[in-house]
Amino acid sequence: MVGLLRGLLAVVLCVGSVTTVVAHDEHEHDHLPKLSWPDALYQPTPFPDRICLSITADAAHEIAVTWRTAVATEATLLEIAVAEGGPDFVGKATRLEGTSSLLTTDLGEARYHEAHARELQPATRYLYRVGDGEHWSEWCQTETAATDTSPFVFVYFGDAQNDVRSHWSRVVRNAFRDAPKAAFFLHAGDLINRAESDREWGEWFSASGFIHRTIPAIATPGNHEMARGDDGGRRVSRHWRPTFAFPVQGPAGLEETCYAIDYQGARIVSLNSNQQIEEQTAWLKEVLSDDSPTWKIVTFHHPVFSSAKGRDNQELREAWQPLFDELGVDLVLQGHDHTYARSPQLTFQPGSLEEVNLAVGKQREQSGAGTVYVVSVSGPKMYDLEPQPVMDNWATRTQLYQVISVEPERIAYRALNAIGDVHDAFRLEKTAEGGTRLVNEVERPVGL
Ligand SMILES: [Fe+2]
Repeated sequence: MVGLLRGLLAVVLCVGSVTTVVAHDEHEHDHLPKLSWPDALYQPTPFPDRICLSITADAAHEIAVTWRTAVATEATLLEIAVAEGGPDFVGKATRLEGTSSLLTTDLGEARYHEAHARELQPATRYLYRVGDGEHWSEWCQTETAATDTSPFVFVYFGDAQNDVRSHWSRVVRNAFRDAPKAAFFLHAGDLINRAESDREWGEWFSASGFIHRTIPAIATPGNHEMARGDDGGRRVSRHWRPTFAFPVQGPAGLEETCYAIDYQGARIVSLNSNQQIEEQTAWLKEVLSDDSPTWKIVTFHHPVFSSAKGRDNQELREAWQPLFDELGVDLVLQGHDHTYARSPQLTFQPGSLEEVNLAVGKQREQSGAGTVYVVSVSGPKMYDLEPQPVMDNWATRTQLYQVISVEPERIAYRALNAIGDVHDAFRLEKTAEGGTRLVNEVERPVGL
């Protein structure tokens, strides 16, 4: 059995020379539980894997990279150079050191590394690689943000969550085919199903491949990224902070889950809808009260307007929607309900979802102010949906990704299904009066 396990690991580790692999295997993996396929596939090696760029609070001047190796890897090195068309950039690369920490998972132990390159030039292509000085990643290309309001594109995903390797992979890859120069990919929670399952985190990286080595991630935690802590309370997965390097902002206890970044005129805010709602309300007010951003976009997991039956989040709606009205939030990107539903511009109406629908139904033709709310799903798990007046567009049993183009005067939004067909499209335009107007670009589905 031990021989079989070693054989399997040798195949997994075949990125290096066989001698190195076998030697490393003998010294390092004997203590591991006996893993069967596919868990053996997700073992760390001396070579960096799960390499991920995270959005930073200063995306014009800083990149942040995280990656994983086997425990024995001691050095955490990031090399970076301004990108060139040929190989000569290598001699001009700067070597930086990062930090690492150990993570014990259900499949064993791994070392997670984090490194930042700061004082970079804005709107500049860079090449970077990570490693320990001997075992390196490939050179990966990325680009810093501009300091002005140049147009950019980003992609938003609802829950991936289940069968991530077999069913989410085509969605994230088609999104990359559609928007290969996206500024970032935004994940609205439930990236995986079991918060502490190392295999599932491995599947997420297996599905997204090299994409997050070149396009930074923004992610907000869903309920499936939450686990029970030693004190009995809920806390974010032990994988979250080692896997990403999001800004540490927001109320204490919400590190890397509650944060705001500016990107070429847009302010993007991640809220953690799992916990400490009231504390985040005060923080959000602080973060969004300034009027300098051209657009204000907020993401969190649990939808203000639920699209699935019996899943209303009235408390969250009452806590946050009046604030979105007051602070002029343009777009809210959510997940959780495993359907697609996109609202017209809505302002706060008190009461249950039934009461809200009644009020919105009467006012539909007068909309022209407020926030657009989206629920989407990118993975294969599906719930039922009932079309409601709070929805301008909807879909069931469809995996989607959203390509969103941001310019100073307008946002152009498209929701595409897993094979790249447009399902929903609208524009948000600045009006002469200083407001925004929603223009639908596809017909409302039949069914209401
Ligand atoms: Fe969820």
